[in-house]
Amino acid sequence: VRRMRAIMLGCGVVGGGVIERLPEGIELLGILTRTPRPEGVSGFPVFTDADAIFALRPELVIEALPGGAEAEALVERAVNAGCHVVTANKDVAARRPDLVARTYAAGRTFACSSAVGGGAPVLETVARLRENGVKVGRVRGVLNGTSNFVLDRLASGRSLSASVKEAQNAGFAEADPSADLDGLDAANKLALIAREAWGAVLDPAAMPTASIRDLPAHVLEAARLDGRRIRQIGCLSRTASGVSAQVRLEALPLNDPLSRARAEGNVVVLLPERGAEVIVAGKGAGRLPTAGSLIGDLNRLLKAQRS
Ligand code: HSE
Repeated sequence: VRRMRAIMLGCGVVGGGVIERLPEGIELLGILTRTPRPEGVSGFPVFTDADAIFALRPELVIEALPGGAEAEALVERAVNAGCHVVTANKDVAARRPDLVARTYAAGRTFACSSAVGGGAPVLETVARLRENGVKVGRVRGVLNGTSNFVLDRLASGRSLSASVKEAQNAGFAEADPSADLDGLDAANKLALIAREAWGAVLDPAAMPTASIRDLPAHVLEAARLDGRRIRQIGCLSRTASGVSAQVRLEALPLNDPLSRARAEGNVVVLLPERGAEVIVAGKGAGRLPTAGSLIGDLNRLLKAQRS
């Protein structure tokens, strides 16, 4: 059986987890890393030069870089080269709908299941509901683990900076944690859900967001006294005039499914226009869950190519 010729960009927490369980149908030609001898990568050629790795003429680019301008430029390069793209990069997938559209226009796949929910199959469930003919009307979700972690630490009296440092040490927070605290990470994920559910193109930077940095101490205290938990909630709703999206901070009763999200947990409630809600919950960050979702994208791509 012919194997799909692939390269991997970045080999950190997520990329390393993918390599451990790489599907058999993938022939990994090389890995692009910053250092010539990255830890934990053996058995595959390592490149530090993007020109050299793209010269291998891959059909598929697996992108697991930490994000930022370099990642965006390399994903664009992959699209320009006519490759399938499987990425864990929320930022690029959400902010560059043009790249996604061009990839599909060229008959290729652009998949980013791991970008939302980590190991919780959020985009996968939205796609399955669409296939089932279920029209999702509203979405409410805890889409960012760092926010849970930091909000719970703040509620127990820790300072913001100490709480953020702990979230970074635990490996959930973005390199620049302002994306977690200010709601941009959740906004990116909302844009990806809206695209999957309705084909809507939303600009995450234009969504109204509430920042954990601006949360007054008395609001935290009032929530605690009232037996509630504050959560960062991403909200989407589809109306006759379009899709509205926002990231809010809400004090939720403990029996609300969204207040069940602790530490890196994500919980997403999908509300169909008719019928009962569907709840997806799982680990929203971390090596195994996130790599698992990315491997799911690879397996679906391989299956589609075979059929
Ligand atoms: N910074 C993100 C979070 C990582 O805290 O949920 C997973 O997308």
